[in-house]
Amino acid sequence: MTFDLPPIIGHRGSAGLAPENTLAGIRRAHEEGARWVEFDVKLTYDGIPILMHDDRLDRTTDGSGNVATITYDDLQKLDAGAWFAPSFAGERVPSLKAALDLCFELGLGINMELKPCPGRAKETADIALTTLEDVWPNRASTPPPLISSFDKRALAAAASLRPDLPRGCLVGRVPLTWRTAVERFGCRTLNVSDRWIRKAHVEAARKQGIPILVYTVNDPNRARALLEMGVTSIFTDQVDVMMRTLRDANGVEKVS
Ligand code: G3P
Ligand code: MG
Repeated sequence: MTFDLPPIIGHRGSAGLAPENTLAGIRRAHEEGARWVEFDVKLTYDGIPILMHDDRLDRTTDGSGNVATITYDDLQKLDAGAWFAPSFAGERVPSLKAALDLCFELGLGINMELKPCPGRAKETADIALTTLEDVWPNRASTPPPLISSFDKRALAAAASLRPDLPRGCLVGRVPLTWRTAVERFGCRTLNVSDRWIRKAHVEAARKQGIPILVYTVNDPNRARALLEMGVTSIFTDQVDVMMRTLRDANGVEKVS
């Protein structure tokens, strides 16, 4: 199966243009021309995989408390859009299944970041990947999602459950031992914070055939510099601006 990483990946859907980790955000990324989106996955109290970044509900819904203590049914009563803009009122926290179905329908590539609540790493990986498996058989022509996580237990569980799916080693600072981590979890990419990426990392990783993906880049000049440096993809909240930048920069789209 081909693994065709684009230069621009919508971050949390398209977090600068629509509420993060929602179906509206995924749709908006697609409308702006993104070919891939990234989103974060964790579990509700009753073990339903959903899209959510924080361990708490407070920032991105009108609810309050821990995600790990709310049932899926109760979560569906919360508004996940009005905090971003009144026009998004009524948006819900999507299930992973709904998000995967939408991405597949739109032909979007996916970076599924496992973002387990404390103590739920293996369970989150197991359930998220089982959900993916349920949706997957009918989508054999779609490129496989890239599975990433800061949480090494989640990454190890993903590697053991679906060794065939590509994995991304997700880090903040690039550790000196990045090669060991990449090998240990059989990772195909190294996903690094913009704050810590250096040209030497890009060159070393490229020599080993490991694409570098950088998050989160919202400045078009910085995006251009990173792509010219040899970074394969950037995650951005501002999908509209970045797509325009790429179109204006004739040929940068081909950098990979
Ligand atoms: O996966 C890239 C990026 O999303 C990691 O950081 O905190 O935005 O999930 P965060
Ligand atoms: Mg993320």
